[in-house]
Amino acid sequence: MSRESYSRSSMSRKVVASLAGLGLAGFVVFHMLGNLQVFEGSDALNRYASFLRDMPFFLWTARLGLLAVAAAHVVLAIQLALKNRHARPIAYAVRDYRNASVASRTMALSGSLLLVFIVFHLLHLTAGLVDPAVPSRVDAQGHLDVYGKLLHAFQNPLYVAVYCAGQLVLGIHLSHAVSSSLQTLGLEHAAWNRVFKAAGPAVALLVVCGNLSIILAVFLGMIRP
Ligand code: HEM
Repeated sequence: MSRESYSRSSMSRKVVASLAGLGLAGFVVFHMLGNLQVFEGSDALNRYASFLRDMPFFLWTARLGLLAVAAAHVVLAIQLALKNRHARPIAYAVRDYRNASVASRTMALSGSLLLVFIVFHLLHLTAGLVDPAVPSRVDAQGHLDVYGKLLHAFQNPLYVAVYCAGQLVLGIHLSHAVSSSLQTLGLEHAAWNRVFKAAGPAVALLVVCGNLSIILAVFLGMIRP
C-alpha cells in the first residue's frame, strides 16, 4: 500500500471510530438523564423503563444499533492503536507528546477498562448474574421495578466502589474522546477550537456528576424505598 493510501485508510477509520464514539457518548448522556428520574421516585423511573420496554421494535433496534456501533468503535480503535504502534509517524506526525494529556495517552487503557465495566454492569443490573439478590420483581403498577434494583445495588459499599471506579474511567475516556472526535471530523476551526476542546471535559463532567449523584444519593440514604 502506498504511503498516501495507507494514510487515507487510517483517516477513514478514525472518522468512523469518531462518529461511532460520539454516538456512544450520546447514549451515555441519554442513559444518565433517564436514570436521573430515580430522584422523582419509583413510579417515574419504573414508568420510564417500562415505556422503553413497551416498544420492543424500537428497543431492540436501539439495542442492536448500540451493539453494532460499540463493536465498530472498539474494533477500529484497536486497529488504529496497533497501526500507530507500528507506524507512529503517520498517525501522530505533528503530535507533541510533552503536551499530550494523561487522558489522551491512556485512551486504550481507559477504553479497555470501560468495556470491562460495561460487561460487569450488564451482568449485574440487566442479567442479574453478578448478584442474584438483585430484585427482579414488578411494582404495584405492574412495571419492572428498576428503582428497587438501583436501591438494592447502591446500598452495598462494594458495588458503590465498583460503580464509582467505573465513573472515573468513563470520565477520563470521555474527556479526551469527545474533543478528539470533533477535531477528527474536521470541525477543528480556529473559532471553534476552544469550544471543542472544552466539549469533552464538559460532557465528561456532566455524565460523571449525574451518575455519581444517583450512586451517592442511594448510598447516603437520600433516596429510600
Ligand atoms: C450510575 C450509573 C448507572 C446507572 C444507575 C445505570 C443503570 C442502569 C439500569 C437500571 C439498566 C437497566 C437494567 C434493566 O434492564 O433491568 C441499565 C442498562 C444499561 N446500561 Fe446502565 N447505568 C449506569 C451507567 C452506565 C454506563 C456508564 C454505561 C455505559 C458506558 C451504561 C450502559 C448500559 C447499557 C448498555 C444498558 C443496557 C440497555 C438495554 O439493554 O436496554 N450504564 N443501566
